[in-house]
Amino acid sequence: MSTLIEAAVGDAAALLSRARSAVAFTGAGISQESGIPVYRGEGGLWTKFDPYKVAHIDTFRADPSQYWSYSREHRRTDARPNPAHEALAALERHGKLSGVITQNTDGLHQKAGSRRVIELHGSSHAVVCLDCETRFPRVDIDALNREHCPPNCPACGGRFLKPTVVMFGEALPGEALLEAQALAIAADVLLIVGSSLQVYPAAGIPRLARENRADLCIINAEPTPFDSFAAVLLQGKAGELLPAIVRAMGEG
Ligand code: APR
Ligand code: ZN
Repeated sequence: MSTLIEAAVGDAAALLSRARSAVAFTGAGISQESGIPVYRGEGGLWTKFDPYKVAHIDTFRADPSQYWSYSREHRRTDARPNPAHEALAALERHGKLSGVITQNTDGLHQKAGSRRVIELHGSSHAVVCLDCETRFPRVDIDALNREHCPPNCPACGGRFLKPTVVMFGEALPGEALLEAQALAIAADVLLIVGSSLQVYPAAGIPRLARENRADLCIINAEPTPFDSFAAVLLQGKAGELLPAIVRAMGEG
């Protein structure tokens, strides 16, 4: 690790150690080292697929098979938490993190042991029928999808089985957004990890934290629109940088 990065790791550790209420805000980049592709930037999913086709509620309602055939080809079900997820869980265990606000739907923060996780974009581990509102475990519907794409609702036969994720064109879950906003307002440090910070309203959370005088600590592989506001900026891999920060805090 270069001396410049080592110094920034030390700065991040100092910021988090003296924080009264530090909160993490994560994006797809924190799961990249678990083998889950990011959306933007190098090799991102949206550089290969049109998000309007595979992840927009209007397209889903017109033809659910676009989503379910994309899911059958590209959904990763064997992903495991990586050292970045584990580092955030360790910070929470040691009372150094109030919670994680995530844009991710992969459930890896919870698998790593984080207890207070706010899923702004829902969870990909459940499915709901838009006709009868019955909910199913995603694994069961993935099995149906392998036999017949798109899968039909086992309860009512309906065609619109939708993962409980927020698709483009949908509103964020109100409760999660309110809880995330309350955490951001109360935070004096916001640790932003693995997000391009381009998608609103989620990217409004770092803005809200900054407007309430939180220090931003950004860990990302590429530049973000918030970099100029960061108290500490670390460009690199979350799976390396977060454990280094936790070690530097003596919490490792
Ligand atoms: N460590 C740190 N950062 C990384 C890593 C890594 N190992 N790998 C990639 N990154 C960075 C990329 O450089 C990129 O800037 O993570 C960022 C991921 O950005 P996006 O792919 O845009 O993901 P995210 O910010 O979470 O997108 C927000 O957009 O499509 C919607 O609903 C989707 O929740 C998603 C939302
Ligand atoms: Zn149904």
